[in-house]
Amino acid sequence: MAHEPGFAKGLSIGIIMDGNGRWAKKRGLPRTAGHKKGAEVFRDIIKYCNELEIASVTFYAFSTENWSRPLEEVNGIMKLFGEYLIMAYDYEKENNRVVFMGDRTALSPKYQAQMNDIEEKTKNNTGTVLNVAVNYGGRQEIVRGMQILAQRVKEGTLEPEQITTEMVSDVMYTAGQKDPDFILRPSGEHRLSNFMLWQASYAEFVDMDVLWPDFTRGDLDRAIEEYNTRSRRFGGI
Ligand code: IPE
Ligand code: IPE
Ligand code: MG
Repeated sequence: MAHEPGFAKGLSIGIIMDGNGRWAKKRGLPRTAGHKKGAEVFRDIIKYCNELEIASVTFYAFSTENWSRPLEEVNGIMKLFGEYLIMAYDYEKENNRVVFMGDRTALSPKYQAQMNDIEEKTKNNTGTVLNVAVNYGGRQEIVRGMQILAQRVKEGTLEPEQITTEMVSDVMYTAGQKDPDFILRPSGEHRLSNFMLWQASYAEFVDMDVLWPDFTRGDLDRAIEEYNTRSRRFGGI
């Protein structure tokens, strides 16, 4: 389908990359093969978001609950995270500002140092903001934010009644960013699974039947087209 130029410009999108395991199972492959293909798709979709001039895109890569998977799978995912995002991401060339969301202290010290370095080197980039959620949970993010505000109250620099919704947004990992316009979940599931709970307040939810490793640029076009048909009222009429 032909698009108006700039049909996606300025949008903020959240993507729950799901269905890697089912994709692999269908092919009689180990689950990690699905994660590998999923990581390749992830890299291509970032490039496409840059071309579309998306304002920000958040990829859910690993949740706080995903630690409950078999150790072999967890290790496989972590290895891919290192290969595909940390090592292969050409932050010298791309104009993305990269933000890692989640508790990185549970990751290897080497990864943590690389993540800090990528964030520092890309902080003044002006293209699509690329948020990568690793060891991320929406509830944990809110708790962390509450702890930051509680500390200010304890120090006497903030009164409890001065706390506003903007202040809470500013203690989320996405501080200063626009809330997602829509959250996309491939694989046919219809839930948030602890993703961007605070930011999702008025996000449209777009679910698609395609499994993430099969996801294409055309699927993203279709998701945006679907979003563009929605009527957002924000409580008004
Ligand atoms: C998403 O795919 C990747 C992660 C959660 C890390 P899944 O591994 O959840 O794939 P399914 O849902 O089992 O098919
Ligand atoms: C959500 O997918 C987490 C990520 C995509 C990283 P899951 O596959 O873990 O979610 P549930 O378990 O189906 O809710
Ligand atoms: Mg899943």
